[in-house]
This record gives sequence, C-alpha cells and structure tokens, in this order.
Amino acid sequence: WGKTGHRVTGHIAQEHLSSKAKRALNDLLDGHSLAFVSTYADEIKADRQYSKFSAWHYVNYPLGIKYKDSEKSEYGDIMTAIEECKQVIKDKNRSREDRVFYLKMLMHLIGDLHQPMHASRAEDKGGNDIQVQWFGEGTNLHQVWDKNMIVSYGMTYTELATELNQVSRKERKAIQEGTIYDWVDESHEICATLYDSVKVGERLGYAYTYKYNDILFQQLQRGGLRLAKVLNDLFA
Ligand code: ADE
Ligand code: ZN
Ligand code: ZN
Repeated sequence: WGKTGHRVTGHIAQEHLSSKAKRALNDLLDGHSLAFVSTYADEIKADRQYSKFSAWHYVNYPLGIKYKDSEKSEYGDIMTAIEECKQVIKDKNRSREDRVFYLKMLMHLIGDLHQPMHASRAEDKGGNDIQVQWFGEGTNLHQVWDKNMIVSYGMTYTELATELNQVSRKERKAIQEGTIYDWVDESHEICATLYDSVKVGERLGYAYTYKYNDILFQQLQRGGLRLAKVLNDLFA
C-alpha cells in the first residue's frame, strides 16, 4: 500500500490492542501511534544501506497454487520476513534498537500482505508492468491498488479507519482466524481475479472503483484487525 493504506491499517489495529500489547508498544515506539510508524519500512527505501529489505514487501508465486507449494526466492519474501521480524521482537537478547526496527517492519508488512498486488506473480512484477489509465492519467495496475483507488475516495486515513472499524466482536473474531499462510493465499486468490478483469492500456475510473470498492475496503480492514491479532499474540 501507499501511505494512506498503511496508516489506515495502523489506525484500525490501534483500536483492537490488548492492554498488554498497548503497554509494550507504547514503550517500544516511544509513544508514537501505529499509524505514524506504519510507513517507516517505505521511508528507509531511499537509503542504500537498507536495500536488502526491498524484497521483503511482497511475494510472487504462480497463480493457482499455494504459497507453501511454491519455490522460494533466495532474497526472502514477505512471509520469511514476517517470521524473522517475530523472532527478533521476541528475542530479549537482541538490542532494543533491533527489536524496534523489526517491530516497525512487521507492522508495515502485515499491511502489505493484504494488498493483493503484493501477493502476486513475477511475470509483471505484481502489476507494476501493466500500464493502465486512471481517470485519464498514466499509472499501472500495482499503483491502482497501492494508492489510486484509495485516493479517489478523498477521505483521510482516520475517516477511512473509522468507517472500517465498525465491526461486531463476532465479525472481528472471524476475520482474525487463520495464519499468515492462509492470509497470503487469500490475497493471492484475489490478485488472480484482478488480472482476469483488466487489459493493458485500459482506461479505468469510477466503474472500476465501484466494482472493487468492497474488496479494497475488506483487505484494508482485514489488514488492520489481523495486525492487532499478530501484536496481541506477540505481546501476550
Ligand atoms: N517487484 C516485483 N514484484 C513485486 C510485487 N509483487 N510487489 C511490489 N514490487 C514488486
Ligand atoms: Zn506496492
Ligand atoms: Zn511496503
């Protein structure tokens, strides 16, 4: 996701933390909000020192198969990255600085896991090579899902998060079921349907937003509620 998508994810998660997780996060993040730190992993991309982390934001594997049955990248992917983050955060022998770094990474990556184009296929780099028009301006299918569609609502991240926070306890529990391996395959299956429904160079706009707004909102909501679950489990 772009900035707004990550902030929405963080802001939703913030509302569903256990008291233990709240305390631990408040300490590690020096009182900053989850929304605020959720974009850190993108901000460090400009610094070459962090180039090894660029492959951590996504995973590509053939459409129609499960992550567990796919060939893994030697550079790592969003799944191996999430596991590594969890290990470091739990390891009391690691420095506070390391644990904070991996915590910020983790919060960002749970968001990206729910952007369908980040659980995608290698041929077109998760839609980055599929050029399309968005209300007459050139963009690509990846960007449409990272940000163009979100921006078109003209809502702030807090407004979007408030909208998506309206869930019953039962709905929330259902969404928080499963593992990151279930969640990545779910994103990947959504991704496959998105490829089926767009042609290179196509002019997208209102009709596209209307068609996919439920999926977009659902993925942002899942990302936020599941981030809370991951953090509550980690700091239980
Ligand atoms: N680069 C290659 N594949 C990618 C993907 N799925 N998402 C973002 N960047 C990528
Ligand atoms: Zn992206
Ligand atoms: Zn990212």
